[in-house]
Amino acid sequence: MTYATSSRRHEAGTAPVIQARGLTKRYGKVVALDGVDLDVHAGTVLGLLGPNGAGKTTIVRILATLLAADEGAATVAGIDVRADPREVRRHIGLSGQYAAVDEYLTGFENLDMIGRLYHLGKAHSRSRARELLAQFDLEDAGDRPTRTYSGGMRRRLDLAGALVAHPPVLFLDEPTTGLDPRGRIQMWDVIRSLVAEGTTLLLTTQYLEEADVLADEIVVIDHGKAIARGTADQLKLQVGGERLEVTIRDRERLADAEELMSRLGTSPQNDLERRTFAVSADLGVATLTAALHAFEGAGIELDDVGLRRPTLDDAFLTLTGRTTEETVAPEDVKGGAER
Ligand SMILES: Nc1ncnc2c1ncn2[C@@H]1O[C@H](COP(=O)(O)OP(=O)(O)OP(=O)(O)O)[C@@H](O)[C@H]1O
Ligand SMILES: [Mg+2]
Repeated sequence: MTYATSSRRHEAGTAPVIQARGLTKRYGKVVALDGVDLDVHAGTVLGLLGPNGAGKTTIVRILATLLAADEGAATVAGIDVRADPREVRRHIGLSGQYAAVDEYLTGFENLDMIGRLYHLGKAHSRSRARELLAQFDLEDAGDRPTRTYSGGMRRRLDLAGALVAHPPVLFLDEPTTGLDPRGRIQMWDVIRSLVAEGTTLLLTTQYLEEADVLADEIVVIDHGKAIARGTADQLKLQVGGERLEVTIRDRERLADAEELMSRLGTSPQNDLERRTFAVSADLGVATLTAALHAFEGAGIELDDVGLRRPTLDDAFLTLTGRTTEETVAPEDVKGGAER
């Protein structure tokens, strides 16, 4: 069955392909997960969004049977991850946060080896490896040791490795961290085509845009807890309606502009350094028109003016009290896909 992205909704009554209840994990005094519930329905994408240390990888590792939860339960494809991890592994593919490729093998050998591990047989393993190299734009590099690959190539090879056995359920932990914008868009295309073919996907990301583009449902994780969930649009709505934003030209008029804006709307957010003012624009275009008149009347020149709908970034800031930029620690930037 193929679904258009916007109408990819589960049918009422079908059991979720991934289900977690009350997942809890502690490391000494650190509570990595604190009672997380998740449901992912067949053929949909769940995006786990959260800052560094939120607990995203811990969730993925528990669902992929690499780690046991202290409390709570989870099933994947209807199978209990704790009771029958081997059977769960037959249904899943995992691409971890750090690309796990053997440096000394070529791209082809890496994929062929995985095929053998899955008992695909010699001929089938080899043909599947060539097929995936082509699909991931790695044909030319396929016979080179992967230590010569760029970060983006390793990422793609790692995802290809997760797909060798055509798993119906896929876990991708930060699939595009460390990729350049072009590599990211290529990866999105690959992910979209997998989902169009019916794969059920759980992905983690720190990029709001990525969650916005790929996920049917988003769960925002912070300090081991699910602090919000819904579609991207629902999360944006939680933050409120449109805002009027103006940037004035002349620094001398900052005080006048501030006073004027306070009469146009509420909840001001001003950045005097950037000469930018924002208020709620409850009347939308009418507020914008009123602002243009008012600034013209007061003789205050504008560099920029516009109505802005809340983005997922705004939602994230409101929910966690942090911007996404603030959550990327320098050591994580260094780690990235090169590791
Ligand atoms: N093996 C471990 N020993 C001790 N603490 C751990 C261990 N693994 C994870 N943690 C802690 O658990 C919390 C959640 O970590 P996790 O890796 O799940 O976060 P994350 O959301 O994946 O972060 P990132 O975006 O940086 O990958 C963090 O505070 C982390 O330090
Ligand atoms: Mg992680």
